[in-house]
Amino acid sequence: MALLETIGLVKRFGGLTAVDHLDLQVNEGEICGLIGPNGSGKTTVLNVITGIYKNDGGKVIFNGKEIHILTPHEICEHGIARTFQNIRVLGSQTVYDNVRLGLHIQTKSDLFNIIFNTKQVREENERIRKIIEEALDIVGLRKEKNEITKNLPYGKQKVLEIARAIVAKPKLLLLDEPAAGLNTAETENLMEIVRNIRKRGISILLIEHEMAFVGGLTDKVYVINYGKKIAEGTFNEIKKNPSVIQVYLGTKGDE
Ligand SMILES: Nc1ncnc2c1ncn2[C@@H]1O[C@H](COP(=O)(O)OP(=O)(O)O)[C@@H](O)[C@H]1O
Ligand SMILES: [Mg+2]
Repeated sequence: MALLETIGLVKRFGGLTAVDHLDLQVNEGEICGLIGPNGSGKTTVLNVITGIYKNDGGKVIFNGKEIHILTPHEICEHGIARTFQNIRVLGSQTVYDNVRLGLHIQTKSDLFNIIFNTKQVREENERIRKIIEEALDIVGLRKEKNEITKNLPYGKQKVLEIARAIVAKPKLLLLDEPAAGLNTAETENLMEIVRNIRKRGISILLIEHEMAFVGGLTDKVYVINYGKKIAEGTFNEIKKNPSVIQVYLGTKGDE
């Protein structure tokens, strides 16, 4: 059984079919790629999986359950986390506090406990601190934990967003163009981070234009164009596929 499966997934915007009967599978422990030209529907696939958009047809099955009927919050609680194509971090908050947001903490302690800073509160805070520092270690930001986020270089803000996504230990992580805007060294560092995340038992579905990144990381790649799957296989298989070559040559100018 796949960890994530979309079956005949459809999403329309008015007359435009942005996702057109898409079947894809991410198995446990896999890193899968989702590639295609600009406007081919990649981000929309993630938006439907995470419940931001309701699908117009088909199903999304996660861990054996139909999740397309759930709210974004419920889907997140089932163990799917994501990052966004355009970075979304709170610039005026510290790195630590941005990662803490990913825990969606509702304070369990009552007012008495908080005011008197009881042992229970201290232990809870200590437990949270360890979890956040572990996530910061994975992306290499432990040193920067008390810095104000907007003062970090762009590449570090991008991996901060990944730390926030994994801090609650999801089963599946969705990454929307994680290497966009990164230089070569930052991209290589990010590849290592993604591999480490997988080692911790988190499966990954990633969208990326940077082909060395896709080739170096993925077990399987899905190629879409106009919302339809045109190829699937290992990176080495799909890069030889004539339909894939044609789509990429035809759109080379705007990639
Ligand atoms: N909220 C929306 N309303 C209307 N059209 C949208 C919306 N989101 C995406 N689209 C359209 O759906 C298509 C796929 O977009 P998108 O999923 O963002 O592509 P990609 O991520 O592959 O670049 C595009 O034609 C885009 O303009
Ligand atoms: Mg996109």
